[in-house]
Amino acid sequence: MNEPHLHPAELPPPRQPESPYTIAMVCLGNICRSPMAQVVLTEKVRRAGLGSAVEIRSCGTGDWHVGEPMDHRAAAALSAHGYDPSLHRAAHFDASWLDASDAVLAMDRANLRDIRAAAANPSQLDRVRLFRNFDPEAAADAEVPDPWYGGPDGFEEVLAMVERTTDALVEQLQRRC
Ligand code: 4NP
Repeated sequence: MNEPHLHPAELPPPRQPESPYTIAMVCLGNICRSPMAQVVLTEKVRRAGLGSAVEIRSCGTGDWHVGEPMDHRAAAALSAHGYDPSLHRAAHFDASWLDASDAVLAMDRANLRDIRAAAANPSQLDRVRLFRNFDPEAAADAEVPDPWYGGPDGFEEVLAMVERTTDALVEQLQRRC
C-alpha cells in the first residue's frame, strides 16, 4: 500500500467517469464513526448540488451490529446538529467494497489494517485512505478516535472532525464532479 499517504490527501480518480463517484466510509462497528461521516458528507454533497454525482456508503470491519441502527449517542449528536441519523443500518465490510468504491476511507489505523488484510490483491488498496488525511487541521496519520467506550463529549469531538474533513472532501468533489 502506498503509505505514508500524501497529506492532505487527494481522492483517487474515478473508476468510471460517467458513473457516480462512490465513497465508502469504514470503521469497526459501523454504528458510530463511519455512519456519522456518511450522513454528514451525504448532506453536504446534497447542499453542494452534487447529490446525483456522488454516492456515500459505510460499513464496519466487525459484524456484531449488522442490521442495527446507529448508536443512540451518535444519532443524538447528529440530530443536535440538524442531520437525520434514522435511515442508517449497519453493514459489514468485505473485499467486494474495495471493487465497488472509488475511495475507501478508514476511520483509524486498525480499520486500515483490517481492510488491507481482506484485499485479494494489492492493487485493490490504491483507493484506500485514512479519512483524516483529508482533515486540513490534522497531522498526517491522525485517526478518528473510537467514541464507543466514552461519554457524549467523544461524539461531539468526532462530529467536529467529521464536519471539517467532509468540508474538505466536498471541495475536492466540487472540482472533480
Ligand atoms: P464504531 O464504534 O467503530 O465507530 O462504529 C464501535 C462500535 C461498536 C464496537 C466498537 C466500536 N463494538 O465493539 O461493538
